[in-house]
Parts: sequence; structure tokens; C-alpha cells
Amino acid sequence: MIDKNAFRNLSYGLYLISSVKDGRPVGCVVNTFAQVTSDPPQVSIAINKDNYTTQGILESGMFEVVVLHKDAPMEVIGTFGFHCSKDFDKFVDIETKVSSQGITYVAEAGCAHFSVKVNQQLDLGTHIFFVGDVIEADIIGEIEPMTYAYYHEVKGGRTPKNASSFSTDALEAEAGSAPEAASSGKKTTRIGWRCQLCGYIEFVDELPEDFVCPVCGATREFFERVEVEVEA
Ligand SMILES: Cc1cc2nc3c(=O)[nH]c(=O)nc-3n(C[C@H](O)[C@H](O)[C@H](O)COP(=O)(O)O)c2cc1C
Repeated sequence: MIDKNAFRNLSYGLYLISSVKDGRPVGCVVNTFAQVTSDPPQVSIAINKDNYTTQGILESGMFEVVVLHKDAPMEVIGTFGFHCSKDFDKFVDIETKVSSQGITYVAEAGCAHFSVKVNQQLDLGTHIFFVGDVIEADIIGEIEPMTYAYYHEVKGGRTPKNASSFSTDALEAEAGSAPEAASSGKKTTRIGWRCQLCGYIEFVDELPEDFVCPVCGATREFFERVEVEVEA
């Protein structure tokens, strides 16, 4: 038996990975960055094959990592975690720097930065597991790191399907935890609008014309009307 709730007890941080594809910066959010050895310093990430950033890492053999801090704006996570670099340049309205290996990374919203050169990769089916040597590391801010739990519990963030940790059970649990839900044991149906990019649900009968998703920044046309069963 595999109890999926067991996976919910794993702890992670949140990271912005960037690389370069066809001479253009690409990047996305991951929670799977980790240090794997200290001498020499090596790190790893598990990243979905469908992510455009993965193509950049395969092409260049390099990536940058920014450790997101607790006050990182949700718009930054929305841009990098719920949209594809193939469609637009995610780095235009954001403060960036270029690493010694020539890769653009996000200079704001982070507390530490690593430059990595890939030395091994493993095909995991949906994802590729990259291991690399750290060739540069520095502290870029004083605010403490954001954890995956903090992102969900305090910032109200969601996780898209490409993430290694994605679970449809989690989305259903989030949908059930509508605001004001009391635990009477009885069920009632509420009308809401679900963002088709990130899964966020706004519980209103009509969505205003200028509504923008507070999690991923998607505009109104990305929302579909849903009826969700919640505690009465
Ligand atoms: C909280 C969070 C955690 C994520 N973790 C991962 C991850 O570990 N691996 C992964 O491949 N994608 C992860 N993603 C999804 C990618 O960031 C997302 O698919 C992104 O749109 C890919 O962008 P790209 O196509 O420009 O590379 C995560 C997203 C969020 C919001």
C-alpha cells in the first residue's frame, strides 16, 4: 500500500532555476533542489521533461539556482511556476544578474544563489534528475528561506502538474478547504471559478471582468466555473 499522505510529510524549499535556450534566458520554480555531497560540493534537481527550462539545461549543461525567501512575491512564483518560458521572456520586468558562467538569474526574491555545471543526468520517465558541481555560491539576501509548507499554508500557493510532488489528491483537498468552511459534517455545494493554470479557486458567483489570479497572475479567460462540495 502507498499512502499518498506520507509524501505530504516531506520538507522542501522553493527555488528558481534558470538556464539558457537558443541564447535566451529560461527559468522555472522547483522544490526538488538539494545538496547531495559537500566535498566536492554537488547538488541535484528533478525537473520535468516538458519544462522548457529542462531543454535549456540539456542544451547548455548549466543552471543557476536562487533560493527563494519568505517574502518572495507570489507574482514571481506565478510567472516562473505556472507559465512556460517558450511563450514569453519571464525575466523582462524583474531585477536580474548574469553569473560567471553567463546565465541570467533572478537577483530579487532570493536569499542565496548557486551556479551549477551538470556532471550527470538520469532519465526518470516524466522527469530528468540532474547532478552538478557547484562552481559559485553566495548569499544574496538576509530574509530566511521560503519552505514548501510556508508557501502552501501561509502564502496560499498551489502546485502545478509538472512538479515532482504534484498530487491530484492535494488539489481536491485544497478545493474542499474553502474559506469559512465549518466542520458540521454536512456537505453543501458552492459555486466557484477554478484557474486552469494553477488550480486556485475563487468562491464567488460571478468573476469580475478584470479578475487576475492571485496565485499565478492568469486573467479571467483562464477560469472555468465549478461547483465544489464543501463542509456546510
Ligand atoms: C511550488 C512549485 C513547485 C514546483 N516544483 C517543480 C519541480 O520540482 N520540478 C519541476 O519540473 N517543476 C516544478 N514546478 C513546475 C514548473 O515550475 C512549471 O511547470 C513551469 O511552468 C515550467 O516553466 P518552463 O516551461 O518555462 O520551464 C513547480 C512549480 C511550483 C509553483
